[in-house]
Amino acid sequence: GASQGHISVVLLGANGDLAKKYLWQGLFQLYRDQVSSGHSFTFHGAALAALEPGQRLMFDELKRLSCPPDEAPNRCAVLKDQFLKLSQYHQLGSAEDYRALNREIETLLGQEGLKEAGRIFYLSVPPFAYAEIARHINSSCRPRAGAWLRVVLEKPFGHDLQSAQQLAAELAGFFSEEEMYRVDHYLGKQAVAHILPFRDQNRQVLGPIWNHHHVERVEVVLKETVDAKGRTRFYEQYGVIRDVLQNHLTEALLFLIMELPANTSSAQELVQCKLQALQALWGLQRSSAVLGQYQDYDRQVQEELQEARGHVSTTPTFAGVLIQSQSPRWEGVPFLLTSGKALDERVGYARVLFKNTAYCPQSGTLRDAGRSQCQPKQIIFYFGHGALGAPAVLVSRNLFQPVMPKDSWREAGPRSDLRLFGQPLSDFYVYSPVRERDAYSVVISNIYHGRKDFFIPVESLLASWAFWTPLLDSTSRQPPRLYPGGVENQQLLDFQMVPGGVAFALAEPAELLHPGGQ
Ligand code: BG6
Repeated sequence: GASQGHISVVLLGANGDLAKKYLWQGLFQLYRDQVSSGHSFTFHGAALAALEPGQRLMFDELKRLSCPPDEAPNRCAVLKDQFLKLSQYHQLGSAEDYRALNREIETLLGQEGLKEAGRIFYLSVPPFAYAEIARHINSSCRPRAGAWLRVVLEKPFGHDLQSAQQLAAELAGFFSEEEMYRVDHYLGKQAVAHILPFRDQNRQVLGPIWNHHHVERVEVVLKETVDAKGRTRFYEQYGVIRDVLQNHLTEALLFLIMELPANTSSAQELVQCKLQALQALWGLQRSSAVLGQYQDYDRQVQEELQEARGHVSTTPTFAGVLIQSQSPRWEGVPFLLTSGKALDERVGYARVLFKNTAYCPQSGTLRDAGRSQCQPKQIIFYFGHGALGAPAVLVSRNLFQPVMPKDSWREAGPRSDLRLFGQPLSDFYVYSPVRERDAYSVVISNIYHGRKDFFIPVESLLASWAFWTPLLDSTSRQPPRLYPGGVENQQLLDFQMVPGGVAFALAEPAELLHPGGQ
């Protein structure tokens, strides 16, 4: 029955790349998970264009929907059929289109005698379209009294502090902060979402060592093999810092370095602690960043943006950035954020490396590679892809055996002869999710559950832009270092600690960086 009320989900940009790749599948997953929750659903795919006679548009995507392997094929087919029946296409352009959508929802509620639970508007559209869509939703599509409205927004949320402030102010004219869900899909990645629970569950061991006395450095890395081909129109405006460092990598870093609130089940406390960690970041400057651009980038830009012929792009496609925190906990500890396109491998992880000396029982054994207690000690939250091919949490065996929630993470099966970070996999306790979930299906489930702590509040958004904008300004005219794309570029990401700083090797020669530019 639908005693919990009806939820209308409106997906704008229903034929866009994101929708095709992830969002329809995520909505279908939501439907499968919640079909017996007591909520009833309708799904409204929307775009600017009218449906031409015979045109299928989003319906081709719906045909391709799939269930996880553990779903019985019959049940999957039935659910898919139901989902298709509950889904329809809308042209949403003019004010009248929005009024018509609203009438349709109202008519359905009236005919079926349904109580309204809420409406989700997922804006998978370019941000320049936000303001107009927001205006229409606000004036024509608000739910009945007592029901909630959730408006989901995809990045980019501006391209610097000023534009982000402007966009935030504009949207605040239509929706309350409570109603807005700013997506960072990294918060839906299982390994990222598990950082805080992991720290919480292992508080006893980690409490005393989660600080500058014991931690040597923290790294958040996303290496990609793909380049920007096909999306240089977007990429040329943003570059790697805006595309992934300002959001995904910063978010993962914050989970690692924020203070753990006494009560980790309070969403509000978590959000506050995370914001404080963000506000304590410092030390970002031109001298603490290495920017690169893969060699073929300019040619691709010129091909895709014909008007830009002859133009030499200064957009970075690689960035290695060294930052620090003002919090006494992290005094002097370097945080390295690194990402790039057209690199030698696809891998993403956040890791904490502990100082070796702190745990080496006998002094002088540091150089003795045979002594296991002096092997590197680290905790790695592995986002997926890469050599492991799945999300994982890895803890050096000579550090401690972590407590993991048995219902959702399990120790990985037979250990392979794989090496990670120069060590055999057998040196680690390795845990993987019992059930692997796509980040966007987690994001959609979090929207449904109203878990606002998995979205970006306006304060954090602006604090993050305030942190990154000076670097963006100071580098905007400097050509990045060129690097050859692809597999031949094995050395691209090598960095090592040197006295007083960090050495990044970006092609040749190595560039030396010192924390805080000292
Ligand atoms: C997106 C960026 O937000 O994140 C892309 O726009 C990037 O450029 C992607 O490739 C990385 O996400 P994932 O989930 O593939 O690691």
